[in-house]
Amino acid sequence: MTDLDRLVRDAEDAFAQAADAAALENAKAKFLGKSGALTERLKALGAADVETKKTLGAQINNAKQEIEHLLAQRRAAIADAELNSRLSSEAIDVSLDGRGRGVGAIHPVIRTWRRVEEIFHSIGFDVADGPEIESDWMNFTALNNPENHPARSMQDTFYLEKKDETGLPLLLRTHTSPMQVRYAKTHTPPIKVIAPGRTYRVDSDATHSPMFHQVEGLWIAQDVSFADLKGVFTNFLHAFFETDQLQVRFRPSFFPFTEPSAEIDMKFESGPLKGRWLEIAGSGQVHPRVVRNFGLDPERYIGFAFGTGLERMTMLRYGIGDLRLFFENDLRFLRQFA
Ligand code: PHE
Repeated sequence: MTDLDRLVRDAEDAFAQAADAAALENAKAKFLGKSGALTERLKALGAADVETKKTLGAQINNAKQEIEHLLAQRRAAIADAELNSRLSSEAIDVSLDGRGRGVGAIHPVIRTWRRVEEIFHSIGFDVADGPEIESDWMNFTALNNPENHPARSMQDTFYLEKKDETGLPLLLRTHTSPMQVRYAKTHTPPIKVIAPGRTYRVDSDATHSPMFHQVEGLWIAQDVSFADLKGVFTNFLHAFFETDQLQVRFRPSFFPFTEPSAEIDMKFESGPLKGRWLEIAGSGQVHPRVVRNFGLDPERYIGFAFGTGLERMTMLRYGIGDLRLFFENDLRFLRQFA
């Protein structure tokens, strides 16, 4: 065996003993590195005569090619082995039971929204939906809001840059009441409708959120009275809170779109909120001017409207103290309603 043959065998042994890619690179350096055995031999050739350079040089190059070939083979073998061991350690047991999937649930406010729809639907109310971007006329003027009413100010209302055909900026509706106008203009009496939906005001604290939900109710016919309002709303509260153990009272109030107007308060006779009057809705007999804006004759048609907050209803039903909990998306809170 020539000296070069031995070198090739040595390299083969060294490569075989390298257990991983890093060890293999170290072994490679011993033969092919800057001061590796083969490199040294090539360097020494510089001093040899022309004939030796030719023959020995060719032999050294052959040996080098052989060693490079062995190295590539070993590299592939190590990569294969590493892949195989990874595959077997990461093996998936497809017969194992699953960990279960997180199941979504209805948000508590939407749960209230649906309950309110069901209850009113059961006593003959239609459910209407409408735009959240409204015109100044729909949101204020048609509802008899005077020109300089404070609700119109930028501090209270979110205005858009875009203007409507009258030149007034569009706005995010501040209540669901414009739906009274939209619905009444397109239906003939008797009108019995609720309009639940998102509303917006520049307001944010423990009991106010810039986006919140209201439900509007409207009943217009030739013979609807305040007594009907009281009956309908009391019936609704009994159904919603699943108890007859509550009282309802009407407290005089003011809204531009109703006359007379009343704040509706309720008081539980049992349970954790027992004995406290709680403000629950705004209401009133629809103002004759608003009835005219519906396109109806106020001498013939009369009725009532009410508006209440879905967050407020939800807070009272479940005993929730802070409105912000509804919008933080904390699963520890939301899971309690799943
Ligand atoms: N729109 C009133 C509000 O947002 C509530 C209301 C509705 C009052 C209908 C009376 C009649 O405060």
